Amino acid sequence: MNSSTLPNPQPIVIGDAHRVPRVLFVDQSADLGGAELCLLDIASAWPNQCQVVLFDHGPFETVLSERSVDVSVISVGRASRTGRDSKLGGYLQAGPATMRAAFKLANIARNFDLVYANSQKAFIVGALAARIARKPCVWHLHDILTASHFGWAARRIDIYFANSHARQVVASSEASAAAFREAGGDGSKIDVVYNGFHTQHFQRDLSHASAELRRELKCGAAPLIGSFSRLARWKGQHVILDALVHLPETHLLVVGAPLFGEEDYAKELLSRVQELGLSDRVHFWGFRQDIATLMAGVDIVIHSSISPEPFGRVVVEAMLVGRPVIASDAGGMRELITHNENGLLTEPGDVAGLCAAIELLQKNPGRSQEIAQRAQLISRQRFGLDAILDRLQQVCAKAVA
Ligand code: UDP
Ligand code: GLC
Repeated sequence: MNSSTLPNPQPIVIGDAHRVPRVLFVDQSADLGGAELCLLDIASAWPNQCQVVLFDHGPFETVLSERSVDVSVISVGRASRTGRDSKLGGYLQAGPATMRAAFKLANIARNFDLVYANSQKAFIVGALAARIARKPCVWHLHDILTASHFGWAARRIDIYFANSHARQVVASSEASAAAFREAGGDGSKIDVVYNGFHTQHFQRDLSHASAELRRELKCGAAPLIGSFSRLARWKGQHVILDALVHLPETHLLVVGAPLFGEEDYAKELLSRVQELGLSDRVHFWGFRQDIATLMAGVDIVIHSSISPEPFGRVVVEAMLVGRPVIASDAGGMRELITHNENGLLTEPGDVAGLCAAIELLQKNPGRSQEIAQRAQLISRQRFGLDAILDRLQQVCAKAVA
């Protein structure tokens, strides 16, 4: 796999390396989801010994190695079969495998000061491993623990482990922190830390991007909008398709693949394009790593999640490249966007609202540019990787104190 287009700048050295804990990062997924891309930047800049343990082989393992991060894979057997919607019985059946995985991880954890879990399943195994190895555990919560994202059992188990085993919980947004508290999580453990970005990567000269993309799409000077999220029902790409029916000139670039078992949804999207007669105007490009260039090539970036987005990296990335964003008014989006100032917010799933917002920006290029420029300025100030890493370093130092 070619990862040359992923931002790969020099590591940023933060603080005094001797006081930064040695961290064992754990993530269940080897795919390149947002939580994994967030961890990629953290681990590759961590200024002391660190290692990333995954529960599977895959592209995330490859890009970590390419960035010279020490990465290993442990097999967790049945423990990997539980998921967001598993029932209590499923978790109980996975119990023995989970304990075996925890013992394997604990052996590695003995060489580190801290276990840092980056995903839900990794947190359960990581919390048990940390207890066995007598190390503190931090959970980076990239999700919103509500019924729209997780079943009852998953929420109860997460909260139990967070309250009893985690020293600190890093929430990816205020929305994620609020849901954690509402689900019964111990609020005193929470630090809200947004994702950090290599802002320079998005500041390159991308002025050629639009012409090149239009040439490839053969869409001439037609209005062009883009979606850059993985294909999953809750990401709501179908809402954009429905809106497109009412925007007869507009082309849509859909970048992203079904990463976490949502292949059926991807097929549904393809059929819907046929049914709605949109084949000439909708372009599916699958998973890509040249996101900044592609975003810079479209007129507007659409974020269409129908459930609250925990954070939403794609929106920050679009802002950093200077494209105007229309996003769903829920979850972390409310922290990233002030409506009409640095983006537009529409009701999740509201096709008419989305059409109106797209038309508003298409008919007012001056206003659209003003919004994008303001967003670019603010996002550079808010989401620089070095400041965010500094915060995480402080959280980890607090956890080992
Ligand atoms: N992304 C990518 N290639 C794609 C689609 C998405 O590299 O084809 C990246 C995107 O740039 C972003 C991340 O995947 O950094 C998605 O993160 P986000 O927080 O938006 O959503 P998630 O998928 O984590 O829920
Ligand atoms: C998760 C969330 C996404 C967030 C990302 C990084 O994948 O779905 O909203 O941006 O983690 O925190």
